[in-house]
Amino acid sequence: MRAITYDQHGEAGQVLRLSERPAPAAPAAGQVRVRVLSRPIHPGDLAGVQGFPGAPRGRFATARVPGLEGMGVVETVGEGVRELLPGQRVAFFPVPGAWSELLTAPAELVVPLPEGLGDETAALMLVNPLTLLTLLRAVEDAQRGQAGPLLQTAAGSSVGKLVSAAALKHGIPLVNLVRSTSGAQTLRQRFPTLPTISTADADWRTQVRDATGGRGAQFVLDAVGGSLTGELAGLLVDGGTLITYGQLGSGSTPLESLGLTPRALTVRGVSIGRWMTRTPEERAEDVAFAARLAATAPELLEVAAAYDLADFAQAIDHVRRPGRSGTVLLTSPAS
Ligand SMILES: NC(=O)c1ccc[n+]([C@@H]2O[C@H](COP(=O)([O-])OP(=O)(O)OC[C@H]3O[C@@H](n4cnc5c(N)ncnc54)[C@H](OP(=O)(O)O)[C@@H]3O)[C@@H](O)[C@H]2O)c1
Repeated sequence: MRAITYDQHGEAGQVLRLSERPAPAAPAAGQVRVRVLSRPIHPGDLAGVQGFPGAPRGRFATARVPGLEGMGVVETVGEGVRELLPGQRVAFFPVPGAWSELLTAPAELVVPLPEGLGDETAALMLVNPLTLLTLLRAVEDAQRGQAGPLLQTAAGSSVGKLVSAAALKHGIPLVNLVRSTSGAQTLRQRFPTLPTISTADADWRTQVRDATGGRGAQFVLDAVGGSLTGELAGLLVDGGTLITYGQLGSGSTPLESLGLTPRALTVRGVSIGRWMTRTPEERAEDVAFAARLAATAPELLEVAAAYDLADFAQAIDHVRRPGRSGTVLLTSPAS
């Protein structure tokens, strides 16, 4: 079978390669073997290949395969698996090795697909909707009875659009921030009633203050970080909370410069990597939410383009194109 592999951390374009590998062993008890048909390239997948800041780097004894999410067809089931059958279309997360044609997964992490859901939407069904839930919970935790304006960065991202749709649905006063004038125009067309501001405008900070009633934001959902962090802290009201969940930007901001103590600010990181700490019942509810969202609003799980596994280098170039809308998929044939 084919797989994309890497044997050391580094720039994805340099360390990833297409490899031929033996098919995984037959599934053990409680496992299923899935033929993977489609999987997304998430920013986090590329960050994992690059190596997260502070984590040790070096060559691995065994080559690794990126990816934790995807969709496909169950080939065989191990002993004791009752809920899944060979031939069934499924999505999975978090299962390491999604960028390979076959994988073995614990049955509890494999979800039967709703009737009529297309392969492309199914490939994206879990990570971004579960991230949305994680972010909304973080905002709810931070509220503690103090409702107020929410500012989000990278608002044109796939996750950002889910946040916009949720804000409209739940009446959350959201202000969107993007990095370009064209990105702002595109997002305003999609969500005309939400204020959308571009950091390319010289007066963007004033625009944010005006859009948040002159006081600033009570909460920030930030996927950019780096040198923008200090600016975002400056746009929070005293007592406000900065929730960080991505590192798309460059540079850094010293913690001491944020005025955390005199301004009683909170900075909090959230990650879907903690999702497995939820109880099985809570995870089942979250997955049901994701499946409902995929079935009723597939336009919120937008696909930018699909490439065969062998064309992974072009796919990664596409991921890095500024102004891209939607997620890039890697596909492989059904047999
Ligand atoms: N913590 C978690 O558990 C978790 C889970 C899922 C996703 N995430 C994070 O969520 C973020 C969005 O993911 P996604 O899959 O939705 O992304 P995506 O669809 O690939 O979109 C990326 C967006 O980021 C913008 N962007 C890229 N570099 C930027 C920069 N330097 N400054 C400002 N904006 C920049 C792009 O703007 P243009 O349109 O201008 O190119 C684009 O709108 C990523 O940081 C990802 O790592 C975190």
